[in-house]
Amino acid sequence: MIQNTTVQLTQDEFDSFISILTERTGIIPRASHLDGIRNYIQTQVAKKKIGIQDYKLQLISNPSVFADFVNGSTVNETYFFREEKQFALLHDKILPLWRSKSQGSEIRIWSAACSYGEEAYSLAILAKSCGIKPCVTASDINSEVLKHCRQGLFLGTSLRTVDGSSFQNLIVPYKRNDGKIEFDDEIKSCITTMQLNLSEIDSPKCTAFLPKNQNIIFLRNVFIYFSQELRARILRTLAEKCLAEDGLLFVSMSEIAQTDSTIIPPSLEKNFDGSVFYFHKKTGGKADG
Ligand SMILES: C[S@@+](CC[C@H](N)C(=O)[O-])C[C@H]1O[C@@H](n2cnc3c(N)ncnc32)[C@H](O)[C@@H]1O
Repeated sequence: MIQNTTVQLTQDEFDSFISILTERTGIIPRASHLDGIRNYIQTQVAKKKIGIQDYKLQLISNPSVFADFVNGSTVNETYFFREEKQFALLHDKILPLWRSKSQGSEIRIWSAACSYGEEAYSLAILAKSCGIKPCVTASDINSEVLKHCRQGLFLGTSLRTVDGSSFQNLIVPYKRNDGKIEFDDEIKSCITTMQLNLSEIDSPKCTAFLPKNQNIIFLRNVFIYFSQELRARILRTLAEKCLAEDGLLFVSMSEIAQTDSTIIPPSLEKNFDGSVFYFHKKTGGKADG
C-alpha cells in the first residue's frame, strides 16, 4: 500500500504502459503528449493507493480501468469546420451534385475519430444547409468525448477565427446568449454515436457493426498517431467494407501529404480539387467484403 501521494514512474515502467496503449489502440503518442500520460498514470496510482505493478495488472485485466486510461491518454483537439477548405468543397460542389443526383435520399456520412463531435455536427448542418438530410455516424475510441457529442452542447471556444469562420453563419441559430452552442433535437437525431477502436477495424468482432455504404467518410487528425501498417489496414477496410460506390474519404491535408502512396488501396483514387485532396472510391471497386 502506498501512503505517499507522490509517485514517480521509472522510464522502463512508463515505457511498459505506453506499449500496452500502443498494442491495444494503435496509438503511438507524440513526444509532446508523454508528460500528460505520465501524470495521468502517477495520479491514478496515488489516488488508488496501490503500487505501479498492481495498477498495471488492473489496466490489463479490467476493461473499465483500461477505458479510463485511454480516455486520459487521447488528444481530443477539434473545432467546428476545421480545415474549412474541405467543407467549402463539399458545400460548393459535392453536396449540390449529390442533391441533384440523389432524388431526395439522405446522405450517409461517418466522422471516424470524431472527438467531442464538432466535426460530426459541422457535417450535419452543412448537409442540411444544402437541402440534404444527413445521417451521420460519429465514432471515437474515447467514451467520454462520445457522451459530450450526444449532449450536443459546446463551448464558444469550439469556434475559431483563424479557420472555419466562413461557415459560422450555420452555427448562429444554435448560439445561446451565454456564448455556448446548443443543437436542437432535430440535428441531434441525425447523429448516431458509436465507440469504435480503429485499430480493431478489421477484426471479426467489428465487421458486423461497421458503418457500411458510406457516401462520405471524414477520418482526420488521427493517422498522425498510427503506424503505416495500421493506416494501411484502416484504408483497406474503409475502401472494401465501408465506402459506397463513388464514396469519398477525407483525411487531414497534413496527413495526406505524409501518407505513403504504397498503402493506398487500388480502389481509392486520389483526387485534387483546387487546394483540396480527397480519395474517391472508383466505380467497380469492391463494395462490401
Ligand atoms: C485530434 S482528434 C481529431 C478530431 C477530429 N477528427 C478533427 O479532425 O478535428 C483525434 C481523435 O482520435 C481519437 N482516437 C485516437 N486513437 C483512436 C483509435 N484507435 N480509434 C478511434 N479513435 C481514436 C481520439 O480519441 C481523438 O478524439
